[in-house]
Amino acid sequence: MAVTSDPVRVMKQEVGLAAASRVKSDSIVGLGTGSTTAYAIEYIGDRLAKGELKNIVGIPTSFQAEVLAKKYSIPLTSLDAVDKIDIAIDGADEVDPQKNLIKGGGAAHTREKVVDTLAEQFIVVVDSGKLVDKLGSTFLLPVEVIPMAVTPVMRKLEKLGGKPELRMGIKKAGPVVTDQGNLVIDVKFEQIDNPAELEKTINNIPGVLENGLFVGVTDLVLIGEIKDGKPVVREM
Ligand code: 5RP
Repeated sequence: MAVTSDPVRVMKQEVGLAAASRVKSDSIVGLGTGSTTAYAIEYIGDRLAKGELKNIVGIPTSFQAEVLAKKYSIPLTSLDAVDKIDIAIDGADEVDPQKNLIKGGGAAHTREKVVDTLAEQFIVVVDSGKLVDKLGSTFLLPVEVIPMAVTPVMRKLEKLGGKPELRMGIKKAGPVVTDQGNLVIDVKFEQIDNPAELEKTINNIPGVLENGLFVGVTDLVLIGEIKDGKPVVREM
C-alpha cells in the first residue's frame, strides 16, 4: 500500500482496512465500486495472500471491481452460481443519519444495488466528508437510463422538481456509458424530504433502469475520520 499524507486518502485507506478485516473465511463477498472500496478489495487480497483468509469468493459490482479483484487474486463468481451473499462492502457519495445513501458517483449504482441489497450484511465505507443531514445536499442524484429514453426521462425529472443533466465523460468525448451500455442523468433536487418515495417514483418512469437512492438497506457505516492528527474509524 502506498504511503500518503492526503487526509481524505488516509481516511479511505483506514475504512477500507476496517471493512476488509470484517470479512470471514468461507464467505461470499459483494465487492463494491469506487476509490474507498478499492482499498477494501486490496486488503481482502492481502489477507488471502497471507493465508489469514481462506475460501473467499467475490461478486463484483462493476468492471472496476472485477479488474481489482483479479489484480489482487480474489476468485470471482456470479449471482447465477450462488444462493446468498454473506457480506457486501461498498462506498457512498452521501450518507444521512438514517444510513440512507446516495450512490452512483462511479455510475455503478444499478449493479451495486443488486449486490448490496442481496447481502446478509451490507457495510458502507466512507470518509467523514460524505455525512449529510439530508440527502441531496452536496451530491446530484444519479439515474441510469436507457439511451433512447433520455429526453422524455429528463422532462419527467424536471416535472418532479429536479434539474437534470446528462453525465459527460472526462478524458472521453460524449456521455458516460455505464457497464450495461446505458447513460446517466445526474439530478439536482433542492430537498429530498422522502427518499423512499422518490426512489420508487423515479424508478417508475419508463426508461429508467435504477437510481442512486439506497433506502433502508445499510447495516453498518464505517466512517474514516482524522482525530488529533490520527486516522480513526467510527461506526454508525
Ligand atoms: C459508484 C459508487 C461509489 O461507491 C461512490 O461514488 C463512492 O466512491 P468513492 O469511494 O470513490 O468516493 O457509488 O457508483
